[in-house]
Amino acid sequence: MRAAFELGLRCDLDSERPSPGPASIVVFGGTGDLARRKIVPALYNLLREGRLPPESRVLCTGRRKLDPVEFREGLRDAASRYSRTGLEPDAWGRLAARIDYLEGDLDAPGVYDAVAAALASPGHPPDALFYLAVAPEQFGPVARGLAAAGLGTAGRRPGDPGPYRRLIVEKPFGRDRESARALNLELQDSFAERDIFRIDHYLGKETVQNLLYLRFANSVFEPLWNRRYVERVEIDVLEEEGIGTRGGYYDGAGAARDMLQNHLIQLLCLTAMEPPAGLDPESIRDEKVKVLKSIPPYPAGELRRRSLRGQYGPGTDPAGRPLRGYLQEDRVRTGSRTETFAALRLEVDNWRFAGVPFVLRTGKALDRRVSEIRVLFRRPPGGLFQGTCGDRLGANGLTLRIQPDEGLWLTFNAKVPGRASVESEALRFSYRQKAASLPEAYERLLADALAGDSTLFIRSDETEYAWSLVDRLEEAWEAPDAPPPILYPAGSPPPAAP
Ligand code: BG6
Repeated sequence: MRAAFELGLRCDLDSERPSPGPASIVVFGGTGDLARRKIVPALYNLLREGRLPPESRVLCTGRRKLDPVEFREGLRDAASRYSRTGLEPDAWGRLAARIDYLEGDLDAPGVYDAVAAALASPGHPPDALFYLAVAPEQFGPVARGLAAAGLGTAGRRPGDPGPYRRLIVEKPFGRDRESARALNLELQDSFAERDIFRIDHYLGKETVQNLLYLRFANSVFEPLWNRRYVERVEIDVLEEEGIGTRGGYYDGAGAARDMLQNHLIQLLCLTAMEPPAGLDPESIRDEKVKVLKSIPPYPAGELRRRSLRGQYGPGTDPAGRPLRGYLQEDRVRTGSRTETFAALRLEVDNWRFAGVPFVLRTGKALDRRVSEIRVLFRRPPGGLFQGTCGDRLGANGLTLRIQPDEGLWLTFNAKVPGRASVESEALRFSYRQKAASLPEAYERLLADALAGDSTLFIRSDETEYAWSLVDRLEEAWEAPDAPPPILYPAGSPPPAAP
């Protein structure tokens, strides 16, 4: 047996998984922002690190007539601008040689027939990943178009020997439970649920994945991870940026639909879930769904008391320069009441966490960009220190910093040398000590989709349960007697949760 305290012991789970074979990656919306900023830079880094089999092909579709050489040049610019690692001409050349452009209108069958023909042609791996980097109203039509061209998988049995066909779907996935359900049914008409990979890019972040490792690969945290020791859990996803040029989408969505329904609820699930029976996708996703089912169906009045919505007004940045208010942003309706900040205090009503408040906050145009989960533990009982020090005795807390400065720290109380004083200190772990740059979420997610691992993707029932909660919140906020969003100046600290 090796020494229990030995540092650097490593157990590599990735090496246990079979390496994926080459695939054809078809990006619908291949000229769009997502392809340029995230998908192509991620493919480039995967190839560079030997995680994208070299015989893979990338087929990008777009509406415009483009010269393939110019198209690849455009992607090269994007990759050099957005890749977390600098562009190595040789590695880029290897990827560029595998990228093709296909012009086509997604509303006409021709483009899907052309994709089918490409997949059947020599030099194109028949296994395919279809990435829907398109507007949400096109998710259903593209899936249907693919199925009509014989590329769907609905009705296929598990273990079918044919080439795999997987569909990656971006967010937003619906705008309420009903539309999400309709979209689920529509996609499942063309693809089997096991072949549908719904993205929540937060799950691809290293620090978010670390939550499961931290909780279940250690024995020191889990015994404390319950209502007996945890007093409160706070989850913040705060942004400095306003809505920028996204007014057209954002004004119809708001912070609850844009962030709470997906990223914050996913963080909540990973924090509150029970240990899964295994590390397979269904065991993990089953536990997340149990958390969602354990959130009480609060009535509207109760939800209003437990929540706060805000909208940023004009403000100033730290240098005193003026910042626009939400209502001055482009493509925002006059007098819009869309929230750019949302806070919600809820409970997970099960044996582990009943009575422990989980406080979720998210917002734009704040004075900081920080995403973190803070688990606050109860103070020690009795009068030893607590009696004398009262609230000057710090509480133990575990902070998981998702971004920036990825890492975690544990606060605890220690004696001040030379004095009978107690002071709060922290044990820190920073990911920056381990790696100069962490893989981008999209790298992990694409690698997992290629490997057929759907653990970090959202299952149909998960998205529907998450929408049920947000639907109730929206209803509570839209009631005639509901107060309007509070106004906070752009660049100010986040409002306190109720
Ligand atoms: C997206 C939201 O899903 O996540 C954006 O639509 C938000 O509004 C973004 O800005 C935040 O992602 P990240 O990775 O920058 O924290």
